Amino acid sequence: MISPASIEQLLNAVVIEDVVGDYVNLRRSGARYKGVCPFHDEKTPSFIVSPGLGIYKCFGCQKGGNAIQFLMEIDNMSYPEASRSLAKRYGIELIETGTRDDDEYKEKQKVRESLQAALDYAADFFENQLHDVEEGKTKAMPYFKERGYTYETIRKWRLGYSPEAWEAFTQKAIKEGYKAENLELAGLIKKRENGSHYDLYRNRVIFPLIGVSGKLLGFAGRKMSSADPAPKYVNSPETELYKKSDFLFGIFQAKNAIKKQDKVYLTEGYTDVITLHQAGIENAVASSGTALTPNQIKLIRRFTPNVTVVYDGDAAGIKASLRGIDLLLSDDLNVRVVSLPEGEDPDSYCAKLGGEGFADYLAKEEQNFIIFKARLLLDECGSDPIKKSEAIRDILQSVACMNDALKRNAMNHELARVCEVDESLLASELGKLLRNKNLKHEQDFIQEVKQVTAASGVDMPKEALTDIHQERALFRILLLHGEEPWDENTRLSDFVVKELKEDDQLIFNDDMCALITSEIKSASWEVWPGKNYFIQHANMEIASWAAGVLSSGYELSVAYADNFIHVKKEEDNYRNELTAVFLYLRKKKLDNLIKHYTQSLQEPDADVSEILEMLNYLNDLRARVAKKIGGVVFSI
Ligand code: UTP
Ligand code: MN
Repeated sequence: MISPASIEQLLNAVVIEDVVGDYVNLRRSGARYKGVCPFHDEKTPSFIVSPGLGIYKCFGCQKGGNAIQFLMEIDNMSYPEASRSLAKRYGIELIETGTRDDDEYKEKQKVRESLQAALDYAADFFENQLHDVEEGKTKAMPYFKERGYTYETIRKWRLGYSPEAWEAFTQKAIKEGYKAENLELAGLIKKRENGSHYDLYRNRVIFPLIGVSGKLLGFAGRKMSSADPAPKYVNSPETELYKKSDFLFGIFQAKNAIKKQDKVYLTEGYTDVITLHQAGIENAVASSGTALTPNQIKLIRRFTPNVTVVYDGDAAGIKASLRGIDLLLSDDLNVRVVSLPEGEDPDSYCAKLGGEGFADYLAKEEQNFIIFKARLLLDECGSDPIKKSEAIRDILQSVACMNDALKRNAMNHELARVCEVDESLLASELGKLLRNKNLKHEQDFIQEVKQVTAASGVDMPKEALTDIHQERALFRILLLHGEEPWDENTRLSDFVVKELKEDDQLIFNDDMCALITSEIKSASWEVWPGKNYFIQHANMEIASWAAGVLSSGYELSVAYADNFIHVKKEEDNYRNELTAVFLYLRKKKLDNLIKHYTQSLQEPDADVSEILEMLNYLNDLRARVAKKIGGVVFSI
């Protein structure tokens, strides 16, 4: 265990905005910093760093703590690992005292540490083979030189060479005391049927895969001759440390440049990234040749919202990756595209034009992704009207992914010109697509409000509860429309039952509503049993309530005015009404939470600045809820 005194000394030395700033793009806001939370999906920043207190806090997902806890959370480090890494960074000596931690945890940590050690040893081995051993010096070094890599580049990326032998690494590592089992788990060697082991990387140049915090996660080995029939790359398998879908090649080396220039160039290959960096374009990363994943996008988002995708110049590849880019758009990233001449990739073209020339080319050729996509798809349609309308629908799908209405409108305007169609026609097609999407958005909003109110840990006094009309409206809608669709995959009843079961703060003042809730929560049925179940219920109170609701039929409450997606179809109204009811019920809880925190400001040991931040967030959320349900907000 690390002594508490030295932890305190460490935390006093740490500059929290720098530690967090390595992962999150922070902007100063008064005495604090604000950014988009790296721990949950959000669009508006509710993640705050307070240098004075040495803490971070997200008012969206409630995660918070000091610099050590931040590293534990974001880099999956153990407490001692995070402390040691900070101590190293700030030159503090930690005093260790001898007590035991949790055994199982320690065991797992030990495995991770062994894998890390094995990888670090392997990187040294491969570098040594390249720089100091004859075979590497004569086979691999010329390969790198041929590609134009300088000595600094080779060292910076820790490039290496794996010799042309089956067990060169295996035997050396085992002799040095590394266990075969760990070498295998680290993805460095493989087991034969007879139990002996052999090297995974043989006769290849080696590219180390380094994670966002600078830790080595695995390797990629590239063959040196195109005559070699083996696959071009052998990549690290998925291991405890390397997860392909979370990884972007070059992110550690690029992150400062990305933050500084507020922009990232996204390429496909390891060699693209290395060449661009060497040419002075250091804000470049690669997705390792596959479509982007949500986690990779999250990783980019930590540093910038501006992404420029640099495509290899072949049409098939471009078309294949169009779909993945919609993910970037729906995450509010600004996506631009540069396409290269046929047959070129960023690596080859940058080498051809030189660093400055290539930077100019990127700046000049960069264009908006949607316009790029429109031109590309329309080019293929020729004069076929059916193909053209399909292409336009496809393009509008991308527009619909954008969350900002102003940007969408501007895009429509531009598209009308590029596609040579009437702008109003585009707008009405887009409207249809958006209606579906908005439904999804409303659900996300309900979820955010639910998360904050349900997880607050502050109980509602019963008298502060909602009004009975709202409570009853909820169950009326449930009974009348339970079997109807809520979204593509769930029925309304599935949704409501789940909400009731998951949110303990959703309690009801009205006896009838409380009774039905407890019936639902304790029910043995898995699937919503339908109207008749309630009409025929053994409990007479429930039965007569159900009969009453069903005979009075459906009436849309006037309260749910124009704040929801405009609905043309009468049967869609129940969705809007239900959304409003849930928000209304939870707004009462927000009111109560705000009251609770306002009162706690009076307490003698109150952490005033943290409470004020919390109140800021809650007030903002309440205002959004109120706007949605059309209520008037009174400050307490
Ligand atoms: P490329 O074929 O463009 O490779 O694949 P490259 O890295 O640019 O190499 P050069 O320029 O031809 O020497 C792009 C990326 O796709 C993945 C790698 O991440 C590569 O960097 N890839 C490609 C593989 O994982 N395995 C392969 O066999 C090929
Ligand atoms: Mn390439």
